[in-house]
Amino acid sequence: AAPLVRVLEPAGIGPAASRLVLDALASRHSPVIGVATGSSPSPLYRALAASGADFGHASWFALDEYVGLPPGHPESYAEVLRREIIEPLGLDPRAVHLPDPHSGDLPAACAAYEERIAAAGGIDLQILGIGRNGHLAFNEPGGALDSRTRVEALSEDTREANRRFFDSLEDVPTHCLTQGLGTILDAGQLLLIAQGEDKAEALRAALKGPVSRDCPASVLQLHGRVTVLADAAAAALL
Ligand code: GLP
Repeated sequence: AAPLVRVLEPAGIGPAASRLVLDALASRHSPVIGVATGSSPSPLYRALAASGADFGHASWFALDEYVGLPPGHPESYAEVLRREIIEPLGLDPRAVHLPDPHSGDLPAACAAYEERIAAAGGIDLQILGIGRNGHLAFNEPGGALDSRTRVEALSEDTREANRRFFDSLEDVPTHCLTQGLGTILDAGQLLLIAQGEDKAEALRAALKGPVSRDCPASVLQLHGRVTVLADAAAAALL
């Protein structure tokens, strides 16, 4: 099936996304949710927190993490997820997994992360944002469409986009660990959230353009169970 696109009022996106995640949480004894960072999923996490649901039976896997930030850095995705989901949803921190950017052997840390996902039974629902250059997680344009979790360099466009979270461009990490596009496609269900005109061209290329390395998010067309929740500005070119 082609990706299902729902265009919603900005205020409706968090609650609609939350309903999908709550359904996924209810569908399995030990559900596994893949979580994105960035601004796109924040309304979803707020809606989940407001739902009052019990999340004790679930486990959670991050899409990506920066390399090179000191442990506990407020913009590390470990800390972002602590603020965005662990505290508001009352999660056991041990149920929230990230690849280890402090490992002395980063490729081994990436392989171990893939093994942790597999040992959990695979990701049932993966929450995604989209980069304005069409990236998914930190899979930048030009990379293989079947990649696995690995060390990557961030594109200058992505470093510029994420500069707002740091004091200066020099402070934005140059490298990261990221789930691969192949890892993402293994999830049972994908939920992409896109808001704002900045994302309109990336969303058009992802859903209407060719499946191509030029737009990593075009792999969404290869997955049979994708829901896109977008506001009118992000959906303007569809
Ligand atoms: C970031 C993250 C992605 C995120 C994307 C969009 O750099 N690594 O996981 O989905 O870019 O971010 P935002 O939602 O803030 O626009």
